Amino acid sequence: MSQSQSPTHTFALIDAADLTGLNTLGLPARAQRLARPTTLDALSQVLAERDPAEPLFVIGEGSNVVICSDLPGLTLSLAIDGMARVKQDNTHVWVAAGAGVHWDDLVAWTVEQGWQGLENLSLIPGTVGAAPFQNIGAYGVELSQLLEQVTVMDVATAQVKHFAGNECEFAYRDSRFKSRDRGRYIITGIELRLNKMPQCNVGYGPLKARFGHLSQADILPAAVREHVIAVRQSKLPAPDVLANAGSFFKNPVVTKERGDALKSRFADLVAYTQPDGVKLAAGWLIEQAGWKGKRLGPVGMHSEQALVLVNHGNATSADVIALAEAVCADVQEKFGVALEQEPVLLP
Ligand code: EPU
Repeated sequence: MSQSQSPTHTFALIDAADLTGLNTLGLPARAQRLARPTTLDALSQVLAERDPAEPLFVIGEGSNVVICSDLPGLTLSLAIDGMARVKQDNTHVWVAAGAGVHWDDLVAWTVEQGWQGLENLSLIPGTVGAAPFQNIGAYGVELSQLLEQVTVMDVATAQVKHFAGNECEFAYRDSRFKSRDRGRYIITGIELRLNKMPQCNVGYGPLKARFGHLSQADILPAAVREHVIAVRQSKLPAPDVLANAGSFFKNPVVTKERGDALKSRFADLVAYTQPDGVKLAAGWLIEQAGWKGKRLGPVGMHSEQALVLVNHGNATSADVIALAEAVCADVQEKFGVALEQEPVLLP
């Protein structure tokens, strides 16, 4: 492996960079060239020096990817730092953060300030830059509800551009950056609007049980964060202890008719009514299909949350894909429901 850094460069280019520690599933792979720019200038310099025909990949901490083989061309892992309050009024604060900030550092900092909004999204692995890409969500809150704007750099022109929250085409675990504009922009930072007065969202099961009897003024973001962390730690494995990429499948949405038909066959089906149909708990489907805690080679579905695919050690992407296919086939056979994978396959 060689590393080059010319005096005029504010970024290092690493050849044949090992990505094993840069994907939370811990899959072995290398990037032909890896750069970790720390500023917008450095990022535009990297883009200017790149051959436009060269493949380009962007990963944050690799918490939502399955790296299937070595990545050709250039891989960027942004290290743009910084968290700051940019403005405020009587009721709200606007907070900006760089794409390279560890997501939970941003949540911890805002909650420490007493600002309300991000507490339900505590302990989600990954970076700030990855958060709008897949519209992270947990415990009844999605990032899209708090996002004021996303700052991006256009890969073709290195121009900086801002998208207002409502221009990002956010949907359940989706955005324009993940779908129609995939590869076109690099997310460099976000701006959020948070509340000064607590109005925590505690409607989701485990939060309702703990806080449902309290009045809004008595539910502090710090207490909600603490509880969310406890709930997550009880069922979701920390990637540095047991390698995983969070939920491996999306919760599938089926038509109301299909949901009703399933409910009549499976009385304890876990289903939530949505404007566009019925969302089914994929974890329940996978558990009922017999996969909770079950292994296939070095990978398995987690014993506490069947939706999380874990690497027990030395797995390859082929092991991951074989398990994902086996789980999908069994859920399809038992329930007639197609599961859609959540993490992005690279390259
Ligand atoms: N369930 C089971 N067996 C399981 C897992 C779940 O029966 O092994 C059933 C339970 O009835 C449970 C229900 O499914 O009440 C829902 O489970 P949970 O509250 O754990 O949430 P989830 O729907 O499985 C989603 C997100 C998570 C997020 C949680 C909490 C997706 C794909 N996943 O999981 O996000 O943390 O809700 O809001 O929407 C992620 O995206 O990586 C992620 C972890």
